[in-house]
Amino acid sequence: MESSAFALRNIVTVKELSNEQVLDLIKSGQAFKRGQKADLEERARFATNMFFEDSTRTHTSFAVAEGRLGMNVIEMSPEHSSLKKGETLSDTFLTLDALGVDTLAVRHGEVDYYRPLLELQEASDLNIHLINGGDGSGQHPSQCLLDLMTIYEEFNHFDGLKVAIVGDLKHSRVARSNAQLLTQLGAEVYFSGPDYWYEDSYSQYGPYVAMDDITEKVDVMMLLRVQHERHDANSDSERSFSKEEYHEKYGINEARYARMKDSAIICHPGPINRDVEFASSLVQAPKSRYVQQMHNGVFMRMAMLEAVMHD
Ligand code: CP
Repeated sequence: MESSAFALRNIVTVKELSNEQVLDLIKSGQAFKRGQKADLEERARFATNMFFEDSTRTHTSFAVAEGRLGMNVIEMSPEHSSLKKGETLSDTFLTLDALGVDTLAVRHGEVDYYRPLLELQEASDLNIHLINGGDGSGQHPSQCLLDLMTIYEEFNHFDGLKVAIVGDLKHSRVARSNAQLLTQLGAEVYFSGPDYWYEDSYSQYGPYVAMDDITEKVDVMMLLRVQHERHDANSDSERSFSKEEYHEKYGINEARYARMKDSAIICHPGPINRDVEFASSLVQAPKSRYVQQMHNGVFMRMAMLEAVMHD
């Protein structure tokens, strides 16, 4: 049985994952991709998904992953739940546990929204497992792990790989999660993009470099979405360039694509601002792994769900 045999109670950040656990999750995701069945005791299982922020990939791929694992999927719209009557998210978590729900996947706009839920889980010894589908600009563990699965599929290792993470670093939970695990796994991580979206907290993982100094050297070019919805409309610095200027300075255009190594790949978590981070004509070009990332997202989320249900 190649699917994940280890247990994790919850997956809310990548901080608590060891390299061994990350590689186990990747191998489990790859096994699911090859068609392997889950290694779970047979009984009715229930998965709940609550998305407070908009999502296409993460939300749908959790639902597909849960369906493929044979779980009963319950979609809970925050707008139509008792949260609207003033019930807290912690009380919602307590309620779902009492109903016998096995897993809850949540996307939330607030960084660390999950802390009170984990305290309640610990204090009341709840059986329900929490998976973070993204918290504000905090963490995005399932995106990071599917990115790592996609990179591992390509190179079969992480040690010494040169990875550039480029763009809206300040607002990116994808960048924070990937910077942490990629360096932990031995990759050399570089950061690039507009300086007003750079944060010193990234310097612990690798240098901040000019896009054109790194283009020819990288094995993985990880583009980040410009997150307009998180920008401060009053901040002049965040409005000071046009889409065309961004694309010219920091985007993957035909010229930069041609300068990248033949063996290099381009990742983007999606959704893409076409012709901003990534030239529309290149989104499905040979070096792009955008579609593979989305496809792998289903199998990685199956691996994550199975790992928490082993607890
Ligand atoms: N990458 C990602 O989180 O996409 P969605 O917002 O569509 O889920």
